[in-house]
This record gives sequence, structure tokens and C-alpha cells, in this order.
Amino acid sequence: TAPELLRNFCIIAHIDHGKSTLADRMLQYTGVVTPRQAKEQYLDRMDIERERGITIKSQAVRMPWEVEGKPYALNMIDTPGHVDFSYEVSRSLAACEGAVLLVDAAQGIEAQTLANLYLAMENDLTIIPVLNKIDLPAADPDRYAAELATLIGGEPEDCLRVSGKTGDGVEELLDRIVEEIPPPQGQADAPARAMIFDSVYDTYRGVVTYVRVIDGQITPRERIQMMSTGATHELLEIGVISPEPVSTQGLGVGEVGYLITGVKDVRQSKVGDTVTADKVPATEALGGYQEPKPMVFSGLYPVDGSDYPVLRDALDKLKLNDAALNYEPETSVALGFGFRCGFLGLLHLEIVRERLEREFDLVLISTAPNVSYDVTVEDGTVHRVTNPSEFPEGKIASIREPVVRSTILAPSEFVGVIMELCQSRRGSLNGMDYLSETRVELRYTLPLAEIVGDFFDQLKSRTRGYASLDYEPSGDQVADLVKVDILLNHEQVDAFSAIVHKDNAYSYGVDMAGKLRKLIPRQQFEVPIQAAVGARVIARETIRALRKDMLAKCYGGDISRKRKLLEKQKEGKKKMKSVGRVEVPPEAFVAALTSD
Ligand code: GTP
Repeated sequence: TAPELLRNFCIIAHIDHGKSTLADRMLQYTGVVTPRQAKEQYLDRMDIERERGITIKSQAVRMPWEVEGKPYALNMIDTPGHVDFSYEVSRSLAACEGAVLLVDAAQGIEAQTLANLYLAMENDLTIIPVLNKIDLPAADPDRYAAELATLIGGEPEDCLRVSGKTGDGVEELLDRIVEEIPPPQGQADAPARAMIFDSVYDTYRGVVTYVRVIDGQITPRERIQMMSTGATHELLEIGVISPEPVSTQGLGVGEVGYLITGVKDVRQSKVGDTVTADKVPATEALGGYQEPKPMVFSGLYPVDGSDYPVLRDALDKLKLNDAALNYEPETSVALGFGFRCGFLGLLHLEIVRERLEREFDLVLISTAPNVSYDVTVEDGTVHRVTNPSEFPEGKIASIREPVVRSTILAPSEFVGVIMELCQSRRGSLNGMDYLSETRVELRYTLPLAEIVGDFFDQLKSRTRGYASLDYEPSGDQVADLVKVDILLNHEQVDAFSAIVHKDNAYSYGVDMAGKLRKLIPRQQFEVPIQAAVGARVIARETIRALRKDMLAKCYGGDISRKRKLLEKQKEGKKKMKSVGRVEVPPEAFVAALTSD
């Protein structure tokens, strides 16, 4: 298709604001699926998802749409609606010339949508504001149209009102996509350059790579090159999705489609990378490529130590589908064998952990998540610390920690409590705007370490669930941090070390020592539990010694009973983990790391 007849767009929306419903309705009105098919297909998809335990989604769908007798092709590109994947979102946006800003007419815009809207505006995308669910009795389109007009400029009347459920306004939306979003531009006779905006692993076909062609064209059977690494692959298949994959004879300027090369690992087909022809390669890659960078780290351990090989295989499998997942083996005194893993963020961690538990039938314990620090020691060398137990000994010159730029949206009555929370988490206010009389947007720079704690829960509970939060990495800053160790009978228990702000060291120490005192059974001798910063003890609890000899219970008479008891004790001891001379039931460590 000629570029003049192409329109590439995405839908920016908050979860539950009706993106899938609207997308299905568009597929139906453009004749890509019949209503009956739509239903069947939906059910099919669910089955396969259940079977394979993965979410198969069309990352880009092509739809024909006629306006004034001209046959246009609309490519709808999916954006991940997930706070940890802002880079992937930025690549999906970069593949489009326009965005439909979809907002629930009964809810108004949410922080994540707002953050993505700003990203789209920075990329010079044409924005079409749309209020959805106007069929709802609670819909208040006038109010939210005014809010959207304040945000993107223009008049409240420019805001289209639709219902994905009834289909109201959807055809008009398709027309406006053609009329308002500019066609793609690129050089047809230049060497091929296509941007990867998504790549997913499929059990049957290997990696399916979604691309947007910028210049030139890509044809089947040629060799392509990934510009970030120079690796080349033969193109086995190339095509578009509408709504099933259909192979084509090539993709030209502005077109969106998929490539299959037979590679088995998404790391060989990285989001943001530029694909070019191996024979006549482009000299310059497209801008904006970034390696996926883990931001949050945690140790993952099987609760049952014998599951370690299962965990290792499971991580190897997940990696095929997740270029951002990082891990390496780690051993812990308290938790045994496991892996130190790096994630894009907290939600990414939760997704991976849930998949490991659900798809591979594992029961896991994860250590408290931490960020990575650049620690400069006295002689000037810098250590990157992603695990508190690797914190360098000796005198520290400075420590840098990652920070994020966050956007918080909430009803204006909560401004006070939100500011209080952000201040207590070392945030600094960058700005504040009223979207309307009743809703406010706050922008804070916050240490990522504070967000990976209970920030989101606190924000939700203090605003009765009304606030929404989004954030993106924004460099790092010097901070006054210390490493707190937990010592059990003077031996350090690695999994409990933490890097915290100086002002929080005491409360962390008291908390952990108190928790462990309750969970570790008494021993034959007195056991001190201490929290220490370097050599300085900042908190102490004591587990008092066991006094009674258990055997005294047996009155001396019944020998067999005595022996049974001894054997049982021995068996119990085998399962105990010992830290120095202290015997600890493994559950105690697990409980101390999970209960909060
Ligand atoms: P995720 O897939 O979770 O991101 O959600 P989504 O944004 O794709 O929303 P989805 O289309 O699944 O819709 C969310 C809910 O809103 C569902 O219960 C839909 O039935 C409902 N819904 C979607 N569009 C409309 C609409 O126009 N009117 C009404 N009344 N309900 C709608």
C-alpha cells in the first residue's frame, strides 16, 4: 500500500477504560472480523491462553477502511499498559503517527494514561481525544471533555464521544483517524530500515518480531541484519496481521507487520533495534534504541530446596520471552540456593514470580526488593551494588541511587496527604497543575528505592483508592544511605541485610530484630539478635535460653518413648538451618521476609 493510504495509530488508555472492547468493535466495523467470529475468536484466544499460560495478543492489526472512495489501511499498534514497560511504550508510540487518547467518560484520565499522553506529545503524534462508555448512566462527558481540552489544547467539542459497547461513534472515529492522522513519510529508495516495536516468543514459530518500516522495503527470503549487534538472520516469513497472520510479498515505507526468522530467544530481536537488509545495509540505525536495563533486584529462592533445578529451568524458559529478565545463581545462609534476579520494576517482578509459581508449580520466596547503587569507596573506585550483601567494606566516599519522575493524579482534597507522603519518602515537588477544579496532577522526583517499598499501597490507602501513579527512570542522585546488617548470635544473616536511608536505619533494624525474635525458637543458650551499621549495633533483641530439658517430661520410665522423642528431635534438626550455633527452622526466615 502506498504511504498516502496508510495510517498508523495506537490507543492510549488506562486499564478497564475499554481499549479491548473498542478495538474489537473497530475490527468488526472494518470487516476484519464478523460479530460471530469476534466472539468465537475471543473464546479461542482464552483457551489457548489458558492452555499455554501466556497471553497471546495481536501486537498490530491491519484494518481496511474506505473514506471518500479511497481504500485506506489502518494499522492499530498495541501499547503495553504497564508502568514498568515505559520503554516499550515509547517504541510503540514511535511506530505511529497518531494516538487515540481513550478515556472512560465516568472516570476521567488516570496517571498512567497522562504519562503516555505526554510521551506521545513529545513524539509529535497527532492526538485524537475520545471519551468512551458514554452509554453509562454515570458518564459525565462534558466534565471530562473540558479536562482533556485543558490537557491537550483545543476545544471540549473536539473530543469524540463513543461507546465501544454499543458501537456509537466508532465509525466516526475511524473516519477521523484517516482525516487527522498524517500518512507515514520515508524514503522508498533508501536502504531498508525498520524499527522493532515488539517481539514475542511463540512455542511453535519461535520469535515473532513486530516491525514498522521507516525507509526502503523488506522482502521475504532475504537476509536481514540487526543493527545493534550486526547479527544476521534469514527471513523465513513476513506478513501482516488481519486478524490472523497473513504472509505478504514484502513491507514498504510506513507499513507495519511481522517477521519470522526462526530465532528462539527474544534477546536476538530486541525492542527498539533497527532491522536492515544484509546485502545493502543502512549506515545509520534509527534513534532511540536502549538496552533493557533492570532497575529492581531481588533474590528468588524455592521454599523447598530440592526445587532448585526446576527453578533454574523455569527461568531459562521465561527468558526466551522476556528480554528484560536477568538472573544469576546465588547462595544464602538463610535461604539456601536460589537466584539473584533483575527486573524492570516491581510489577515486572510480580509478573515473573507469579508465572514461575503458576506455570512451573513452584513455591518461591523473594527477598525484599532493592535498587542498584553506585558506591564510591575512599580510593575512588566505584562499585555497582545490586545486592546489599555485596556492599563494599571500609570507608565510603559517596553513594548514588536511582530516582524516578512520577506523576500522581488525584481528587484535589487529597493534595495535603499526598504531599506529606511524598515528603516523608524524600520526594521533591517539580510541579502541580489543576486539570479541573476537582482534580490535580502532582509531579514529584522520588528515589526509586522508596517506590519499591510500600509507596503505592500507602498512596492508595491515604487517598481511599482515588490516586493513580506513574513513573519513569530519571537518572540518579547522591544520597545518605547505610547498610544495615542483621546478626544472629553475632553471625550475619545475609538475606536480611538492607541498604536504607540513614534516617530509616534504626526503624528497619528494630523491625527486623523484633520479627526474628518472635519467629526463632529458643535454643539451649541465650541468642542475641542485633541490627548493626558497620560495627555499630543500633538495635538488639534477645531470645532467652531454653531452661527445661525436654526429656524431663518422660518421667524416666518409658524407654521407648524417650528414644522416639530423641529420634524425632534428630530428624527435626536435620531440617533446621544453622546460622553459627543457632538452629533455625527454615519457615522462620521465610516468614520474616514475607509477613509485613
Ligand atoms: P484491559 O484489557 O484490562 O486493559 O482493559 P481494557 O481497557 O481493554 O478494557 P475492556 O475493553 O476489557 O473493558 C473493560 C470493562 O469495561 C469491561 O467490563 C467492558 O465490558 C466495559 N466496557 C468497555 N467499553 C464499554 C462501553 O462503551 N460502555 C460500557 N458500559 N462498558 C464498556
